[in-house]
Amino acid sequence: MTTTPADNPGRTLEFEIFRFDPADPDSKPHTQVYELEEKPFMTLYLALNLIRETQDPGLQFDFACRSAVCGSCGMMVNGRPVLACSTLTDSLPEKITIFPLPVFELIGDLSVDTGAWFREIAERTAAWIETQDDFDPGAEEVRMSDDVAQAIYERDRCIECGCCVAACGVANVNPDFLGAAGLNRVARFMLDPRDGRSTADWFEVVSTEHGVFGCLGLMACEDICPKRLPLLEVGAYLRRRMLATAISR
Ligand code: SF4
Ligand code: FES
Repeated sequence: MTTTPADNPGRTLEFEIFRFDPADPDSKPHTQVYELEEKPFMTLYLALNLIRETQDPGLQFDFACRSAVCGSCGMMVNGRPVLACSTLTDSLPEKITIFPLPVFELIGDLSVDTGAWFREIAERTAAWIETQDDFDPGAEEVRMSDDVAQAIYERDRCIECGCCVAACGVANVNPDFLGAAGLNRVARFMLDPRDGRSTADWFEVVSTEHGVFGCLGLMACEDICPKRLPLLEVGAYLRRRMLATAISR
């Protein structure tokens, strides 16, 4: 049950936070405890900033937009991947453990390199428009139906926060797995009428145990996604397209 600030007057929050600097040979992974008075409508992002400003200027974590748009502030909070900027402390118990997202390379403390992971996935899946059409700067823009535009927009809502990847049991044990976010990007370009590729062109990268058939249907991705993307629907769409291609070969 979600409580309100009025339900928790004057709570003292205890944050147990992972600390480690992989670039420092003397640094060892450990946790550090900080206490903070809870304020009304305090987000985890605000709490971490207060800790950094008043108690530990060396604490590393990422943020940019503070409004669930940039995807920088994903972290494991009491064992669950969330965005720090859109998580209110009053939705959490007094003791809060914070660890960096798994799967991604650790930069330091709570900061991870999601960008490198997403870039590698984009290169493996060629996540861009491919066309054989000659470029004509005077051409009118390509028209598409509202339904197709809406379907593409739905996939483009991904902010690449990495929460679905961190929550995925398969991604945690198979570093080559495309993950829900990677498969979502593939689906986005498959839907795009400006892309000249056929499903067969995607087959080798998508129809393997590292692609859509590696998914065990654990469903954590859709459950965790802070943007509520229909990730299970994306998986079903890709499986149908891949199976149809396999049968027609
Ligand atoms: Fe984040 Fe959702 Fe995109 Fe996964 S699909 S990276 S959870 S926004
Ligand atoms: Fe941008 Fe949280 S700071 S998503």
